[in-house]
Amino acid sequence: MPEIKRIGVITSGGDCGGLNAVIKGVAREAYALGIESVVVPHGYAGLYNLVKLDDVVFLNAERVSKIEASLAGSEAGHSRVKISKIADPEKYERIKEGLRKFKIDALVISGGDDTGSVVVDLTQKGIPCVHVPKTMDLDLQPYSVGGDSAINRISVFARDLKTTGMSHNRILVIEVFGRYVGHTAFRGGVGAETDCILIPEIPVDFDVVYDHMKTTFFARIERSDVKAGTYIIVVAEGLKQASGEMLYDESIPPDAFGHRKLTGAGKYVRQQLEKRLKSDPAVKDFMERTGMFAPGVYEVPEVREVTPGHLVRSGHSSAFDVNFGYKVGAAAVLLLKEGKFGVTVVEVEGNHIRYMPTEEAIMRREVDVREIAIFESLGTCFGRQPEKYEYELIEQRSHIDRHL
Ligand code: F6P
Repeated sequence: MPEIKRIGVITSGGDCGGLNAVIKGVAREAYALGIESVVVPHGYAGLYNLVKLDDVVFLNAERVSKIEASLAGSEAGHSRVKISKIADPEKYERIKEGLRKFKIDALVISGGDDTGSVVVDLTQKGIPCVHVPKTMDLDLQPYSVGGDSAINRISVFARDLKTTGMSHNRILVIEVFGRYVGHTAFRGGVGAETDCILIPEIPVDFDVVYDHMKTTFFARIERSDVKAGTYIIVVAEGLKQASGEMLYDESIPPDAFGHRKLTGAGKYVRQQLEKRLKSDPAVKDFMERTGMFAPGVYEVPEVREVTPGHLVRSGHSSAFDVNFGYKVGAAAVLLLKEGKFGVTVVEVEGNHIRYMPTEEAIMRREVDVREIAIFESLGTCFGRQPEKYEYELIEQRSHIDRHL
């Protein structure tokens, strides 16, 4: 096996928390082993164009010290480029030429399922790579850097919304990223003790949501001495209607990986609730009883949607993601050194570096809906009739597998 003397670092797909820790973990571990590391900028677009660059940025001690691990985003830059889709028959040769030009022997590539699929492709083309799991969506088999940061931000946003919601007695719907899975909406919503959480894994019955809202929100306001209350819903952008359809922007064509732009979940939830509020005769009584009814002006409670969009993956990384990013970045270098290519770092635990084939790591992991029932028994609505929590007791004796 040829010795690895220089590693290129690529970050790709949607940026998120913890990525700068990954870059620093790679650079510092490589440095400790006497290996150089450099940035391949702009994700896979930069890999394709490497051959055209005059120079690359070396991640030496001084440059690395300028990277703030606790800041989200990536110092290496991102793009959403699928190499196999580039309209250039010589693309793989061109990439190899770029790597030769800068004497890059191997790559550490951090990204999600799309990025990972390209890791598999590049490995098959003979380019040594190791994949570091990254996505705020948390839809990979292992934990992925960025998930915890996004959950914490969603949780803070949803919690903070309660002050404005209570001031106006509004029902607020916060739509969050997460693509086809609901991990971040689910965990962020629970973290903020929101009333209702809607995730793609559960097609929504809006009559159930409406009944839960009415019971919870109306009672909350009536109990309050100042007649104030709010009802907060977190909805994942991949909301599934009863038909099983996700809402997407038809005017935007699918990207290179075939993804449509998911949008409109918050608006859709608002419209569903507004429709029911307007046709429910009990609402007028409630408005009158609580002193809010103003004929022709204010006859039903207001529903508003809020879409933080990219804010959920911006700003700062959680301490957990900095820890995870640092260690999996370092572990990726050790895997390359050991000649393990086309694999994904899973976890570093004590002196164990766990890894798995990248094609397995990128298989989509959805929310385990069996767990939802325990939160339903605690009063949260998930857009379906609450189900009984079916549990099994397992006595744990030693090793514990942790998963967010
Ligand atoms: O995959 C990460 C993610 O943040 C998704 O949750 C979201 O749908 C998508 O990226 C948005 O991507 P972009 O920033 O390219 O619009």
